[in-house]
Amino acid sequence: MRAISQEGIGIKLKTAQEDEKPVVWDVLCRAFGEGPRERFRRQLWEDSTVTTDQIRLAEVDGHIVSHVWVANRPVLYRGQVVLPMGGIGGVGTLPEYRNQGLATLLLNDAIEYMRAKDQPLSMLFTGINFFYARLGWADFPQFRFRIRVERAPYFSSDDGPYQVRPCQVPEDLPILQEIYKRHSEGLQVSLAHCRPSSFWLDGHPRYLGLRPSHIVIHSPSGQGCAYVCADKTDHGFFIHEFSYDHRHPGVLTVLSKALLSELAISKEPGLIEGVTPWMHPFPQKIATLAQASLFHEVTEAMMLRINDLYRCLEIVTPVLEKDLWLSPFKDQDFALTFHLTDQDQVVTIKCTRGKMELVRGDGGSLFFRITTRLFCLLFFGVCSGRQWCYLANCQDNEDKVAPVLSVLFPPHPTVYWSGDHF
Ligand SMILES: CC(C)(COP(=O)(O)OP(=O)(O)OC[C@H]1O[C@@H](n2cnc3c(N)ncnc32)[C@H](O)[C@@H]1OP(=O)(O)O)[C@@H](O)C(=O)NCCC(=O)NCCS
Repeated sequence: MRAISQEGIGIKLKTAQEDEKPVVWDVLCRAFGEGPRERFRRQLWEDSTVTTDQIRLAEVDGHIVSHVWVANRPVLYRGQVVLPMGGIGGVGTLPEYRNQGLATLLLNDAIEYMRAKDQPLSMLFTGINFFYARLGWADFPQFRFRIRVERAPYFSSDDGPYQVRPCQVPEDLPILQEIYKRHSEGLQVSLAHCRPSSFWLDGHPRYLGLRPSHIVIHSPSGQGCAYVCADKTDHGFFIHEFSYDHRHPGVLTVLSKALLSELAISKEPGLIEGVTPWMHPFPQKIATLAQASLFHEVTEAMMLRINDLYRCLEIVTPVLEKDLWLSPFKDQDFALTFHLTDQDQVVTIKCTRGKMELVRGDGGSLFFRITTRLFCLLFFGVCSGRQWCYLANCQDNEDKVAPVLSVLFPPHPTVYWSGDHF
């Protein structure tokens, strides 16, 4: 096997040209195998968010041998502000060029690229977490649900003011977007992709699961209230995505009844499974109506990287400040310093009479030396302030720290839907 110098002799890092996409496609299929061939085709040609500068390549002696895609995937923070995010996908090196540092070189290049693009957050999905942990990505939980239905009940179609019908794209696009927005805002969802309009119609997300199947309309007003992307499987449904308008909580019953009634026709035991934010009322509603048990699975195939702690906090400051104002801490002065030990980033949040100011460096009376993983668990609301104190080993200060953290970083749902993958 040819040795490749780490200093870069013989190696060229570059971005793809439009006419090189067929070669890139071939490299991806040789690195990953033939299984995802169609997925890669759509990724390269049917995703309107792709630009050639996002496709980062390593060339050896004029041949493209390694690939990383930095997808542009801005995400919502508590449904209120947008965090620019780089999604790392298609990390692959041709078999004969592996273990020579090429993917690592490209990932470091991707980190620089994200910094230049002001993407303070990064996400990836993997089964080899350790490989990415060396470079600063940290495991983050994702939730799936599963409901085994012995005999699905059939419900009459009298749904009061609501009407469930098959979704029509592109005709229903404005309604779908509105429901998606209301869902993210109403439930204060983090990590949901802030999708451009064109993305809803692209072949790539469609292939990955963004295929709205059912939509619920509030008949008197004509307003859309909920939709689901439910794929029929051999035994039931796989739910890739769902959203509802929180001002119409009854709509979840209507949607659940519609899915169960479709399942009832087969008279066989069925399985409804899918992706969900933790503790979302939709799977709970399906399980209750079906008189079935709800199972959850937590995986940590998702990883997050804080490329720039200061920028992450700066962008979300208006959200944090709003909650601070409504809390008993609004008249107090305090400062919290977060030191990400695995990235050596230090930022202090100074709160003075309800106003927040960020400072690069330390100086807080409350100091947290933590890993990126721990920071993300707090920042993205996976656990309460008190739970977090135990994880972060700051029980000594627990009574002082936990209430403040719970105000600034309250528990809230996160989800990354199937169609937004990269
Ligand atoms: C994973 C992959 C991209 C690494 O590419 P590469 O150019 O060989 O990477 P590097 O040379 O920079 O790093 C190699 C390191 O990755 C580790 N690695 C590679 N595959 C691994 C695996 N499946 N599990 C754990 N570690 C793995 C190697 O052990 C090596 O570790 P070391 O540096 O401690 O010796 C390459 O093996 C590949 O293309 N695999 C098939 C596609 C794939 O699975 N991609 C990852 C999707 S998340």
